[in-house]
Amino acid sequence: MQLMSKRKILITAALPYANGSIHLGHLVEYIQTDIWVRFQKMCLPKENGHEVYFVCADDAHGTPVMLRAEREETTPEELINQVHNEHLKDFTAFHIEFDNYYTTHSTETREYSENVYRKLQTADPSLITTKNIQQFYDPDKGIFLPDRFIKGECPKCNAKDQYGDNCEVCGAAYAPTDLIGPYSTISNASLVLKTSKHFFFRLSDERCINFLRHWTQKENHLQSEAANKMQEWLGKTGQNNLSDWDISRDEPYFGFEIPDAPGKYFYVWLDAPIGYMGSFKNLCTQKNINFNEFWKKGSTTELYHFIGKDILYFHALFWPAMLEYSDYRTPTKIFSHGFLTVNGEKMSKSKGTFITAENYISHGLDPEYLRYYYAAKLNGTMEDIDLNLDDFIARVNSDLVGKYVNIASRAAGFLVHHFDGHLANITSLDYEGPIELKELKSSVHKLHHELLNEIDPIQAHMQNRRYNQAIAIIMALTDKVNEFWDQQKPWEKAKQIKNSPTKLAMNHPIKFSLHLVSSITIECFKILTILLKPVLPVLAERAESFLNVDPLRWVDLKKSLEPGHQIQAYKHLITRIDRKKINAMIEASK
Ligand code: MSP
Ligand code: ZN
Repeated sequence: MQLMSKRKILITAALPYANGSIHLGHLVEYIQTDIWVRFQKMCLPKENGHEVYFVCADDAHGTPVMLRAEREETTPEELINQVHNEHLKDFTAFHIEFDNYYTTHSTETREYSENVYRKLQTADPSLITTKNIQQFYDPDKGIFLPDRFIKGECPKCNAKDQYGDNCEVCGAAYAPTDLIGPYSTISNASLVLKTSKHFFFRLSDERCINFLRHWTQKENHLQSEAANKMQEWLGKTGQNNLSDWDISRDEPYFGFEIPDAPGKYFYVWLDAPIGYMGSFKNLCTQKNINFNEFWKKGSTTELYHFIGKDILYFHALFWPAMLEYSDYRTPTKIFSHGFLTVNGEKMSKSKGTFITAENYISHGLDPEYLRYYYAAKLNGTMEDIDLNLDDFIARVNSDLVGKYVNIASRAAGFLVHHFDGHLANITSLDYEGPIELKELKSSVHKLHHELLNEIDPIQAHMQNRRYNQAIAIIMALTDKVNEFWDQQKPWEKAKQIKNSPTKLAMNHPIKFSLHLVSSITIECFKILTILLKPVLPVLAERAESFLNVDPLRWVDLKKSLEPGHQIQAYKHLITRIDRKKINAMIEASK
């Protein structure tokens, strides 16, 4: 990593489908990405010439959106507008700060989709081919049906009303065409097999296979577990496990029509990742950014995609191959994460654990609680992460309220009362005084350095998305600061000052000691605030105004607050999680 030169970084999170609400599972991804983006922006500020952008969009196309619009007696365009507003409102509530939140139903995404398709088509020999295939057709609705809208009798155990890919009763896996009496879950009509011409991206072509074998295994483009999965999917050298990829759908379909192919549309997964380019292009137009510098083949900028493990196949195979053969750059890295479970189980509507972002917010729960909890759990791997609600309450209350914020409230009281909020010089060691003050100074120095020494390890953990390890260190440091306070017993000094018959001079050992202990504690609070800021941006803002400082950045970790700097009186920074609110949220989710 070239830390010194000016870096240009584009970061994306997967584009949520425009046919449903954002829930706490989605937020594992958007919070994780937002923390990483904020961390990069804090370390690589714009003023130093670095550029970091975070774009996303709604994934607007496909049959489910079309059918839902019909059910709601509206147009797909109106539906996706309405969902776009809801999604953006939810993300904003959780402090997810995109540089652009767009939609794939845009002229930009259409242009790049056509452009990529044309390049694949005109590759020599062409990477696009057509084949006639048979698919289930709903004669009532007049549409070909995706598997999720097909049910029928299990060919193995004859259980009724089973989905097209596997039986929930006997567990058998099969193709939809194996179902007995297949019917449409939309119209209940019996399905018929109908032939139609489809367009395919020739992934099975040797060029693609060889490229992907190389790309998925080299330069840490993927986490090792993901690279291993790709090796399984790609098969051994000489084998060819990849099939050509069907990129077309028949009308009626909500999407982009394929050039020179009337009635044929791009499959939603063709234009979805191109939506990353579309959203970025839209930002470029607004902000005068050079699009080509970020996307053309040979680009030296960095491109990172955060995704869930369920869509790894699309991002680690289809997407790099599409880019490679259409003269665009391929991603620098793809970061894949696991799925959310709640109380150790899959999110469930009947248990009330299928919790939407909106439901969480409307019950008055602070979004930063969830940001903190996810950060404390995310380890940069593809393992699932569990939101255990009891642990959630206990952990947030103990770490944030009991430990972190407590530091500020303890020290601020004495500073404001005895020193009008002005800080002592915590770094100068020139005070000549009684021996116990020498010891105090050396323990102040030691505490300060215990914190400073952990900056680099924390930074490395954040960079590698091991937020859990960063948080573990930050909380251990928080414990140290609280222990220091308890050992120093500054309240005893305050009492002595209060009971003194004369007004003590500023350099009187008792007064000096209270000043020093409170000041280093505030300096430590500032350091902890910076370290937590990517995770808790709004809490950090409140802390900044309490500390009376400009927005804190990574460089401020090592710059102590000036002697004499004046802090504000302590105001409440965060409240405890109230279990009643959690219970009400669960009830409302049922
Ligand atoms: N539209 C596609 C992505 C297209 S990207 C070019 C899609 N949308 S989604 O709404 O289903 O999911 C969006 C992201 O949220 C995906 O990365 C997905 O893995 C993630 N998650 C959705 N549910 C999740 C959990 N329950 N847990 C963790 N992440 C989850 O996929
Ligand atoms: Zn069965």
